Amino acid sequence: MSYPFATRVQNLTSSAVRDLLGVIQNEDVISFAGGLPDEGLFPSYELEQAYEKVFRSGGKSLQYGPTEGDSQLRMLIQDVLKEKGIHTAHENILITTGSQQAIDLFAKVFISPGDTVLIENPAYLAALQSFHLYEANVIPVQSDSNGMLPDDLEQKIIAFHPKFIYVVPTFSNPQGKLWSKERREALLHLAETYNVLIFEDDPYSALRYTEEEQLSLAAMDGAEKHVVYTSTFSKTVAPGIRTGWITGPGEIIRTMVLAKQAADLHSSSIDQQALYYLLQDFPLQQHLSKIRKEYHGRLHSMQQLLSGVDQDLFHWEEPKGGMFLWVSINRPIDTVQLLKEAVANGVAFVPGAPFFVGKRETNTLRLNYTHSTEEVIKIGMGRLMSAIDTMLESKANVR
Ligand SMILES: Cc1ncc(COP(=O)(O)O)c(C=O)c1O
Repeated sequence: MSYPFATRVQNLTSSAVRDLLGVIQNEDVISFAGGLPDEGLFPSYELEQAYEKVFRSGGKSLQYGPTEGDSQLRMLIQDVLKEKGIHTAHENILITTGSQQAIDLFAKVFISPGDTVLIENPAYLAALQSFHLYEANVIPVQSDSNGMLPDDLEQKIIAFHPKFIYVVPTFSNPQGKLWSKERREALLHLAETYNVLIFEDDPYSALRYTEEEQLSLAAMDGAEKHVVYTSTFSKTVAPGIRTGWITGPGEIIRTMVLAKQAADLHSSSIDQQALYYLLQDFPLQQHLSKIRKEYHGRLHSMQQLLSGVDQDLFHWEEPKGGMFLWVSINRPIDTVQLLKEAVANGVAFVPGAPFFVGKRETNTLRLNYTHSTEEVIKIGMGRLMSAIDTMLESKANVR
């Protein structure tokens, strides 16, 4: 029987990352694929204490709660935002089930079929998936290592009248890119000039490995009316808690609250309460210093292993933070094919192609370095190199 699905799901395909999760379950495969933090670095003991406190404090946390989220947790997030220079009232913060839900709800309340969304290219897969689900016309803007090119952005704003511009300006996924101050200012300036909204997705800014720190778009002059900002506890505490938040112009947040009511009434009361308890006495900054140091070491190891082979085989730009190394192979290798060889060899990564809208760079791949220890990275990279060798040899034999 063919089921009468809505037109919006007709082009819905499973993401390459999701498909790979099946492979990752196989313990023999070392995975550089998922965007996973290291569970060995989660504050598990402190979380256990926090959850115990929740259950000891009576039934309230097991009850339905407000759609906007727990007000104490929202006040705490208000302080976190203030430290980043983002001034907002706690009433203007909506707690979401991960920042993924914030992206999805925002898309839901803004995109009518055929509306244009401007994006960086390549872009975060699950955001693309959400925009496509709402039948957006997703248009990539040309970028370099400093961010979107203002001329191309302006032309596309004029040509397409986008509903919003989706960006991850601080340690992007998949490229780990950090936008320069000039490009941030140019984006905001164009948004003001043409009255366009910016959706700033910021899950990674706490994972910074150099002194260079850029102001969030939401903290810049003129942001109040034009920038909607989302972030998450997924990368700083643990993703399984599924707690993120979004803030921006009041009217937008209020509309999203209504959309969230229809979607799930509210995010888990238990998780919100536990996070609140955790963050009350947990030295978050100390914890962040620890994970930053560890992840930076892993990034360094992975890069050393890449530079230890044939000098011009790989190209990459050293990320200044985040979780990913974006690599191009300077040979005619399709990384989707390479993935099959790599998995057979006991290592997984995400091919770059699915992250692109339009022309795809098929020789690219995304490597996650935060989930594996340096020893495991060494073994995994060895496996990856030998998969590449096998592919290069088989191509040479064909010729
Ligand atoms: C750019 C980006 N945005 C949003 C998310 C969603 O994170 P979460 O829903 O866990 O907060 C991710 C997760 O990897 C991401 O990479």
